[in-house]
Amino acid sequence: MTEPHVKIFDTTLRDGEQAPGFSMSTDAKLTMARCLRDLNVDIIEAGFAAASPGDAAAVRAVAEEIEGPTICSLARLNANDIEAAAKSLEPANNKRIHTFIGTSPTHRDFKLKMSKEQILNNISELVGLACSLSDDVEFSPEDAIRTERDYLCDAVQTAIEAGAKTINIPDTVGYTTPEEICDLFQFLQSVPGAGDVTFSTHCHDDLGMAVANSLAAVRGGARQIECAVNGIGERAGNCSLEEAVMALATRKDYFGAATQIDTTKIFIASTTLARVTHNPIPRNKAIVGKNAFAHEAGIHQHGVLANKRTYEIMDAESVGMPSNSIVLGKHSGKHALRARIESLDLSATPERLDEIFVKFKRLADAQREVTDADVVRLVTGSNQKPGRAGPWRLRRVEMRAELDEDIIPHARIGLEHENGERRSVQCDGEGPFDAAFNAVCAIAGVEGYIKTLDIHHVAAAEDGIVRAETLIEVDGQEFMGAVREVDVAHAAVGAFVAAVNQALANTKTAAA
Ligand code: KIV
Ligand code: ZN
Repeated sequence: MTEPHVKIFDTTLRDGEQAPGFSMSTDAKLTMARCLRDLNVDIIEAGFAAASPGDAAAVRAVAEEIEGPTICSLARLNANDIEAAAKSLEPANNKRIHTFIGTSPTHRDFKLKMSKEQILNNISELVGLACSLSDDVEFSPEDAIRTERDYLCDAVQTAIEAGAKTINIPDTVGYTTPEEICDLFQFLQSVPGAGDVTFSTHCHDDLGMAVANSLAAVRGGARQIECAVNGIGERAGNCSLEEAVMALATRKDYFGAATQIDTTKIFIASTTLARVTHNPIPRNKAIVGKNAFAHEAGIHQHGVLANKRTYEIMDAESVGMPSNSIVLGKHSGKHALRARIESLDLSATPERLDEIFVKFKRLADAQREVTDADVVRLVTGSNQKPGRAGPWRLRRVEMRAELDEDIIPHARIGLEHENGERRSVQCDGEGPFDAAFNAVCAIAGVEGYIKTLDIHHVAAAEDGIVRAETLIEVDGQEFMGAVREVDVAHAAVGAFVAAVNQALANTKTAAA
């Protein structure tokens, strides 16, 4: 028996983009829409056409370019919004209008100031209008979870009779629990016409239960999950796409349902969103965080090296993440160090490994992660001090960021080579630190990108009050740089220079 199909309705570009700090230009939306197409989501909610001319243009741009998924626009339950949605969606091959109105007592009495009857009449008339403009219409009774059950049934039945094909039951304020929402979806199956529509779940994360609630809704009969990459959305966010999809895939035995998502495209979608919205993924984020498949504790590393199922329920590769999961740090043991030495095509006798291990622990105490370049240096016996080695020294930092979005951030960086030569370069970037990094790379002649940049204020430290630590990638290898300075800009750019110096030192070691 094949398991039921659960549609993935992605709202990264609508509910996600609506959240403070996540707004996206049309270009950024298109970049994300391409990722969503590659993920093979069923529906992309591309925006809220009536919200602004920019939103309407973005919905149209996505509708023009993206083939495969159905393209959807949100619309309040009024004629103007519904017509604006239909117009923006014109170029799409498969289009959906998603219209909504509040049905809970709070929404009826305080926001809409409308009676139950008036709302039902509007649902009947305006869902009907939407159906005359699109074959595929979704209706949401906003704040459904806090709506009286008998009235929710009336609203749902009215929308079904008016022609809606999908009935979405939003937990607008993230209030429900798994047991409650599962029961609600089971209950809604008895509404007349329920068998002809797809029930959908749309959960917010105010109490941290959006994913659990969405999965419980599936157990109750929902066959569409509304979710967003990295769980972005209003307030605490929406159900996270990657978590819901991987829960269904990993626990197929329990949920007995499948999606059509190409899970190997999850990581790129997540990192792309982080890049275009300038919101880094928290390290401990499920599925896509840097730590999701990483092990530093000696006991865990030993277990994973013996059999990765000891501490991993999924493969990093299944979500498209590079698989190197053993992070060398102060909690790592000798097993992990030896495995890394061997994976770098190096070797060490047991006695030599003991010596290296002592130095390794000292280094791990001083910096958060020990990179491959550090391991090469420890094994080959180079005595250059990690983080300070290499030919370039920072001489000048000028960084500019304007509040005006039209002015591109830029930086002018001056470095001095150990042979006395001084070079200065000016570069643009997505932000001033990015621009500074581009300038450092241009001077040193390396092509790299910043994986992480952490800046901490270190109170009462004798050699500076800001510690910056960066991890960069050059030619597929990671290099770390860490420095202390009195000034944030000097600390960050100094860390870039230290990491680039490490990359150059590594090239020299490899060539020798
Ligand atoms: O949270 C919500 O209720 C919504 C609706 C518009 C579906 O985002
Ligand atoms: Zn929402």
